[in-house]
This record gives sequence, C-alpha cells and structure tokens, in this order.
Amino acid sequence: MRSLKMLELSISDYQTLTPQELYDRTVAAKQALGEQVLILGHNYQRDEVIVHADLRGDSLKLAKLAAERDAFPYIVFCGVHFMAETADILSRSNQVVILPDLAAGCSMADMAAIEQVDQCWEELGQLMPVDEVVTPAVYVNSAASLKAFCGEHGGITCTSSNARAVMEWCWARREKILFFPDEHLGRNTANAMGMPRDQIVVWDPFLPYGGNTPDVINRARLILWKGHCSVHQMFQPAHVAYFRKTYPQIRIIVHPECHEDVVNQADLVGSTEFIINTVSRAPAGTCWAVGTELNLVNRLKNEHPDKQIFFLSPMVCRCATMFRIDAAHLCWSLENLVQGTVVNQISVPADDKQWARVALERMMALS
Ligand code: 13P
Ligand code: SF4
Repeated sequence: MRSLKMLELSISDYQTLTPQELYDRTVAAKQALGEQVLILGHNYQRDEVIVHADLRGDSLKLAKLAAERDAFPYIVFCGVHFMAETADILSRSNQVVILPDLAAGCSMADMAAIEQVDQCWEELGQLMPVDEVVTPAVYVNSAASLKAFCGEHGGITCTSSNARAVMEWCWARREKILFFPDEHLGRNTANAMGMPRDQIVVWDPFLPYGGNTPDVINRARLILWKGHCSVHQMFQPAHVAYFRKTYPQIRIIVHPECHEDVVNQADLVGSTEFIINTVSRAPAGTCWAVGTELNLVNRLKNEHPDKQIFFLSPMVCRCATMFRIDAAHLCWSLENLVQGTVVNQISVPADDKQWARVALERMMALS
C-alpha cells in the first residue's frame, strides 16, 4: 500500500460539498471499489447514509452479516464503535473494518469499563465461588474487552433480539447472571420471563458491593449493572398514556432499552429489526406509536404513508453518536479507499479478539 500520510484526503474538504455532490461521489467511489467493499448500515443511521448501505439491520443481523460476508476485503461499518469492533472480531483476519467517524461511540457502552467489571467480579468472588455460581452476560453495546471478559469466564454476549435465549442459556449453566451494561434490557427480559422482583438486584459500579449487602447479593439470581441508554430513557409512561387517550386504536411498540414502566404499558417490545418488520407488515390504515431512535421512526413514516406512525416522545430522541456518521464521512472513507488509503480502521487487539469471539460465537449458536 502507498504511504498513508501522503495520500490521506482531508475530511474538511468534504464538509463543504453539497448533498448531491456527496451522493454522486459516493456512488462513483462504490462503483470504483466494486466487490472490494461491503457497506453495512445500522437501522438508526441517517437516510443520506443508509441509502448507500448494501445491507442494513439491527445489531444481531449486522454481526451475522459481518461473519458471513468473508469475500469482501473491506467492510465500511455505518453504525457505532462497538458494532464495528464486533465486525472486526467476527470477520476474517485479513478483512479490514472501517468506521467512517471514530467519534461514533455509545454512551451506554461507556458506562461499564473493564476495570469496573473486574472489580465487581472480585467483590462477588469474596462472597461466593464466582466462576461456578455466576455467568457473565454482556449486551453487545459494550467494548470488546468486556466481551472478552465474558468469553474467558464462561459467559456470553447478547443483543436486544436474543436476550431471553441468552438468559435461559446462562441459568441452565449457573445459578446467577451478572448482566451488563444495560439495566433495562436485563430487567425487561427478566420481567417477561416471570422472574420475581426480589431475585433481581442492581449493581452500582461506584459503590462497594454495587451498593448491596452481601445477603441481598447471595439471594439474587440476576445482578443488573446500573447502565442505560440516554436516548431510550426519554420515553415516559405519560407519552404512552397520551397516545392511548388521543388514538384509542393505537398500537405502542418500543425497544427493550426503554424503562420497564414504558415497556410494561406497550403492546409490543423488540429490537430495531423487530420494530421495522412489525410496522412494515401491519395492514394499511393501522396506527402506531414507536419508542426508539428518531431516524428509524422518520424513515418508517416516509416508507409507509398508508399507516399513521408517530414518534412516542414529544422530545427529539436522537442517538447523537450514530448521527456522527454522515454523508461526508462516508464519502471521505470510500474515496480514500479508492486511492489505496485506509482511514479509521477498527482493529481489536488479538487477546481480546480471541475471547470476545468465544462469547459472540456462543451467542450466535443460539440464534
Ligand atoms: P438493536 O440491536 O435493536 O439494533 O439495537 C442497538 C442499539 O444500540 C439500540 O439502542
Ligand atoms: Fe448506544 Fe443508545 Fe445510541 Fe444505541 S441508541 S447506540 S444504546 S447511545
């Protein structure tokens, strides 16, 4: 490959281009790259980006696609950092994964650091033979090091589409689950499985023993990390009540990262892919209020003018980090590739990769 520094195009030159120029140049770059590049797009991406995606989907679908499409030397991942890491872990070793903007992180993923999880495991280890009693289960919205932790400790990853199957897998093996970093996905899944409330505790990583007494931890069967998605916490029970009163025939559909007070009042709950499929396949004339990220809901509205589709909150609930990936960054990363320069490669260190893959493959075997 030619020298990176010499040839790297500057992102600032792209930020002054018009939407049409960016569109045309992205199409041309894709054409020039042909079978060299696969563009994956998460359901939350902006329209100006998703229009160029070869394949789109939720976290689970994109993880599977990254594992299956092993003929493409380059995967440009239009999503957030943890998704690109997952693609790097599951793809062939000589495939290169690119995240068009490295600032596209996930605030929930940042709520659990490996040092905090190590500390939690050590404290649990003071109370019980932790590797025999507790299965660690990590939501894919997490750093690769946490997935590796789970792989190494007999644990597993999950997504919003398979959390129930994952919890069943965990409880079939050990008495307790440590579920992180999303308290709400864990709680909503356990609620749907009929788990008694007094067997669930919350672990606050900033307090000794997560803020619990040893007794409470010993009795618990599910230990939920105190983490959340700030986008999905914006949906409130009052929003559900408003739509039910105003549109009595409405169906409420939400993502499982929402608070249980919202999920318990919804008609349906599921991943972004589940939400899209359910609303898309519903008969014309049906009426929906959707509790997940705004880009996805606006796209659903535009694609289904025969249905009444509302956003469940009066506030703008947009994933600011997903939003970092725009037409300019996509075009910039592709045109760099055309001239042989890789920008923003996501490369998980070998040690983490090996164990994270173990945890991800346990999950993939379930779905
Ligand atoms: P999905 O797995 O439903 O795509 O959700 C990912 C995500 O980050 C939701 O906030
Ligand atoms: Fe993370 Fe929430 Fe954005 Fe999903 S919507 S990527 S959980 S911050």
